[in-house]
Amino acid sequence: MNGPRNLISLRDFTPQDVVEIFKLASDMKKSGAKYREALSGQTLAMLFQKPSTRTRVSFQVAMAQLGGVAIQLRDSDLQLSRGESLADTARVLSAYTQGIVGRMGSHGDLVELAKHSTVPVINGLTDLLHPCQALADYFTLTEKKGPLDGRKVAYIGDGNNMCHSLLYGATRVGMNIAVATPAGYEPKSIILKSVNREAKHAGIEVVLTEDPSAAAEGADAIYTDTWLSMGRESEEAERLSAFRGYQVNANLMRKAQSDALFMHCLPAHRGQEVTADVIDGAQSVVWLQAENRLHVQKAILYLLMRA
Ligand code: CP
Ligand code: NVA
Repeated sequence: MNGPRNLISLRDFTPQDVVEIFKLASDMKKSGAKYREALSGQTLAMLFQKPSTRTRVSFQVAMAQLGGVAIQLRDSDLQLSRGESLADTARVLSAYTQGIVGRMGSHGDLVELAKHSTVPVINGLTDLLHPCQALADYFTLTEKKGPLDGRKVAYIGDGNNMCHSLLYGATRVGMNIAVATPAGYEPKSIILKSVNREAKHAGIEVVLTEDPSAAAEGADAIYTDTWLSMGRESEEAERLSAFRGYQVNANLMRKAQSDALFMHCLPAHRGQEVTADVIDGAQSVVWLQAENRLHVQKAILYLLMRA
């Protein structure tokens, strides 16, 4: 492969890469001090066009814990805001830094950034995908449940960036996945086409339905995300109505295994996609998911930036 290694989509990582990342993340979580100098002298540029709590802070802390430095950049801080192109920005950032995390308005912009960058580019969320979150989520599932092959995750709600990356991730960890969305809010067909190909190869089952109970049936984990992703704020009224019936509540949790986990990438909206008793209840692992962003991203940075 020419050029640096990127993480734009989980398709960029093989199942073996994922095993390696999980092993490394686990070791970093236990023995962080061993990696204190791992990225010493290296700098990560973080270009964020949308708000972020977890991704932004966990990447910054990850670099600090690995002995490197992270620079937070907003569009308004850069000449991008005055019309300098993404291509030229990528070339310049590549001259100063050893990696770039991008949270871009559109997926195409991240791809453009990566195309012109000579250092690894990591997807910190686009409208299409959120691979770092999905990796941390499957890592969390592995910690809680052991090997994942043959197990089942149910995703309930919007067929959005999170849903897309969980679908790709399932093909990498060998987990079956069922997705329940209202009509008109299914995962994108271009994603489904490639996920279905990869699912066949991985020997996993991918089920799409409009029925949340059918998706939840027998699941080892129930996952949901906001009904109003960043950039969709103007669709609030129609979305709140379309997603009525897709709330993860105690009734829906009962359809899953009795020890099923509740998962959410956060930020959450109690009373909309999930009830407070579920997200704040005993089956919820949302805080562990958030914590694991740090450990898994340290492993991603180590793998990509030391290469
Ligand atoms: N889950 C997640 O990516 O959160 P932030 O938007 O706070 O980064
Ligand atoms: N689907 C959500 C994820 C936030 C982490 C969004 O794009 O806003």
